[in-house]
Amino acid sequence: MLALIGGSGLSSLDGFEPHKQKKINTVFGETSAALSIGKFAKKQIVFLPRHGNPHVIPPHKINYRANIWALKDLGVKKIISVTAVGGITALSSPGTIVIPHQIIDYTYGRENTFFDGAVNPLEHVDFTQPYNSDLRDRLIAAAQKENIKIIDGGVYAATQGPRLETSAEILRLENDGADLVGMTGMPEAALAKEAGLAYAKISIVANWAAGKNDSGEKITVSNINSVIQGSIVKVKLIISSYLNEESDG
Ligand code: HPA
Repeated sequence: MLALIGGSGLSSLDGFEPHKQKKINTVFGETSAALSIGKFAKKQIVFLPRHGNPHVIPPHKINYRANIWALKDLGVKKIISVTAVGGITALSSPGTIVIPHQIIDYTYGRENTFFDGAVNPLEHVDFTQPYNSDLRDRLIAAAQKENIKIIDGGVYAATQGPRLETSAEILRLENDGADLVGMTGMPEAALAKEAGLAYAKISIVANWAAGKNDSGEKITVSNINSVIQGSIVKVKLIISSYLNEESDG
């Protein structure tokens, strides 16, 4: 079964017909919200709003371990994660949809592993390719089928938040090779890898990252939300087209 983890702008999912809400308390604590199980594009999926419902949990306080553990416990095998990001490099203008292929993690102080020697013994997972290439390819094919322009590949920089970055921080991320910046991509992706789940991300560029907007306009949550609303319909279409092609969701 497929799980969709929704971020800012996707804390609910139109067209999704939930038939069960499952509150799961894991060994790592509680998930961001009850897991919603139901039909989307005629397939059974699980939907989880990462920031809770209503949207109140800041990026550094999300219980990423509980979220991934609960999804695995429920029998999920694949996760599509949707996130809003700031665009750093020229192609990543607001409104663009990107399916990133790499990650650089700048977060700190988050519970970031299942293998800490407490619940599970220490293990070092291979994270060379943080996203599942088959799932990425299928999402890219679904976008092409629907004639939706997306960018195939990009380096996602995960920052701590909840504040946005300084312009010097964004230059540093750019020098490091990052194309996009967001606050929730890690440790979610690493935990999915540790749990053996296929995980891919669809990022919506909501704003130019700090210092990248020539007009010098301030980054506001209301601007971010209105850009996301303009692109979310396309993201939903990519996901429903992907599900139509899959026999097992
Ligand atoms: N920086 C970090 N996270 C974000 C941004 C940003 O500019 N926009 C949306 N999420």
